[in-house]
Amino acid sequence: MIDIHAHILAGMDDGPADLEESLAMCRVAVEDGIEVLAATPHSWNGQFTNYPAQILEKVQGLNAELKTLGLDLEILPGMEIRVVPHFGDLYSQGEILALNQGKYFLVEFHPFSAPPAFHALIGHLWSLGYGVILGHPEKNLAIQRNPQYVAALLAHFRSWEVLIQVSADSLTGEAGPDAARAARTLLKQGLAHIIASDAHGALKRSPRLSLAVRAAEEMVEPEWVRKMVWDVPLAVLRGAPFPDVWAPQVQSGWRRFTRKWL
Ligand SMILES: [Fe+2]
Repeated sequence: MIDIHAHILAGMDDGPADLEESLAMCRVAVEDGIEVLAATPHSWNGQFTNYPAQILEKVQGLNAELKTLGLDLEILPGMEIRVVPHFGDLYSQGEILALNQGKYFLVEFHPFSAPPAFHALIGHLWSLGYGVILGHPEKNLAIQRNPQYVAALLAHFRSWEVLIQVSADSLTGEAGPDAARAARTLLKQGLAHIIASDAHGALKRSPRLSLAVRAAEEMVEPEWVRKMVWDVPLAVLRGAPFPDVWAPQVQSGWRRFTRKWL
């Protein structure tokens, strides 16, 4: 499996405090069947700011440690970027990092609200050659209240301009009933493309996908689930062709309503 979202670099954010814990997380990932993992420290979220050069250096160091230890896991660079009003400026100044320095930015909202004019940011980035992956919308309060925001968002764009990532602990129920309910809705309506761990530690919120995969297989076809932890992440990280996927189900009444949000 491929995990595109994990806080696994030591001392950068609320992930592992030191290299030892970082390596413990790597061992958990390998045991769980994860082969490639994108390190995505928080940035520009008001609490943590990490710069591309620091992240690239840390990733290089962690890969070297893994090689020495003979652990079969590849870490790729990334960043979890808060959607802030000056996102465009951060891009222009080279202060944000796309996943594996490729064509997708992993972004997150403030936990309680959806930012205004998110669609304009997506359109702007697409015009520059970048897609957007919205991380764990099922944990956002506004989207929990109206998951059809995601349907309206996807309906507004062509395939692959914006992708939706749900988190493993939402699918397993560990993130609480509200996140679980929203994650289930997103999956069942074909509104999610990727499952990722959003891991922060070796014990709690650890880099595991297998339990979430099993939970997701109870909700949608196993073939979809495989694409969510392999084919789509591979396309995002390595530029492989995107697989054929399910069409999002958009309820027309909600779509009209939620368009006002975008
Ligand atoms: Fe995260």
